[in-house]
Amino acid sequence: MKPIEIFENIYDVGVNDWNIRDFHGYSTWLGSSYNAFLILDEKITLIDTVKSEFADAMLRNIADIVDPGKIDIVISNHTEMDHSGSLPRIMHRVGEDKPVYCSKMGLKNLAAHFGSNLNYQAVENGSNLSIGKNTLTFLETRMLHWPDSMFTYLNESKILFSSDAFGQHYAGFEKFDDAMSDDIMPHAKKYYANILLLYSPLILKLVQKVTELGIEIDMICPDHGIIWRKDPGKIIDAYVRWSEQKPKKKAVVIYDTMWHSTEKMADAVASGIASEGVSVRPMHLRKWHRSDVMTEVLDARGIIIGSPTLNNGLFPTVADFLTYMKGLKPLNRIGAAFGSYGWSGEAVELIKQQMAEMKFDVMEPNQRIQYVPDQTGLESCYAFGKELGKTISEGL
Ligand code: FEO
Repeated sequence: MKPIEIFENIYDVGVNDWNIRDFHGYSTWLGSSYNAFLILDEKITLIDTVKSEFADAMLRNIADIVDPGKIDIVISNHTEMDHSGSLPRIMHRVGEDKPVYCSKMGLKNLAAHFGSNLNYQAVENGSNLSIGKNTLTFLETRMLHWPDSMFTYLNESKILFSSDAFGQHYAGFEKFDDAMSDDIMPHAKKYYANILLLYSPLILKLVQKVTELGIEIDMICPDHGIIWRKDPGKIIDAYVRWSEQKPKKKAVVIYDTMWHSTEKMADAVASGIASEGVSVRPMHLRKWHRSDVMTEVLDARGIIIGSPTLNNGLFPTVADFLTYMKGLKPLNRIGAAFGSYGWSGEAVELIKQQMAEMKFDVMEPNQRIQYVPDQTGLESCYAFGKELGKTISEGL
């Protein structure tokens, strides 16, 4: 991809990663992009870099605009390797004596990743740096989503370089929200659900702080996906909505199955839930990727999980999903468990225990059926789902 002028004298010199399909456990069916930004001012400034294997492509993009050796300042908003992996190679061309501005935690983390031979300069939260006609302001966003994370704000153009925040795993030649309209929102939602959900309380505070400080934002440039320039308020509003964790009249029936018994139960439970006017989808964990299931969990009030009992425990995909979801800390959920079993039947209790640890409001009784559900068993599952549907609807 050629560099794109995103604003007068500001270029995206990042790359599309068309073929990545697994981003540390997150399915990226449409690839991703690693955005990096070059500002031409009296001091030529580079914000962030890309994964190490794309260093040459990024250097070519920079060289299309300016000799990389003429870059005066590098800013590292975030240490994670998709934005810093090529930093040593880039600095080799830029000049290893040139300053790399980062947060205090960034200084520690960059040194831990790449050694201490680069000229790291830690910045204070809220401090300014003049680069000529433009002034940059650094805003620490600790734990959004790493301890080192920060934003860089370009005051004159009101552009926020937001690192991972407001990003989407999406590779495309479309570079702006106006080229994508609402089609980009499912990608932004998936990104929030799988990367940022656990930091929701911090996100609410951050948005509040930015509002209090009266920081005006005309454009948001995240390090993944498209840039928000037509309506940056749209993604900010969505972040507030998602971080409030006020789930909708919606349920997800998440399950796996050995001989279709738990699957039959899942269908009956989902039918019962739907009969109460609740939006619901059964999701088989070997047909749906965990990160797509998690995207549905983001705004679902009812999280219903089914597992057969295998070797006195949970089915492996169910254990995987519970571990994954627990780390992302969904709040304000109603939980319920079901599953078929042969003789010991521990799975349902194990699901309930994990839901209780996640502070879900766990519905009783649960549904356990030995071997294969008959008509009576399926009717019981339907009735169980109907009760769940009523509970999920209460107060909404
Ligand atoms: Fe896109 Fe936290 O890295």
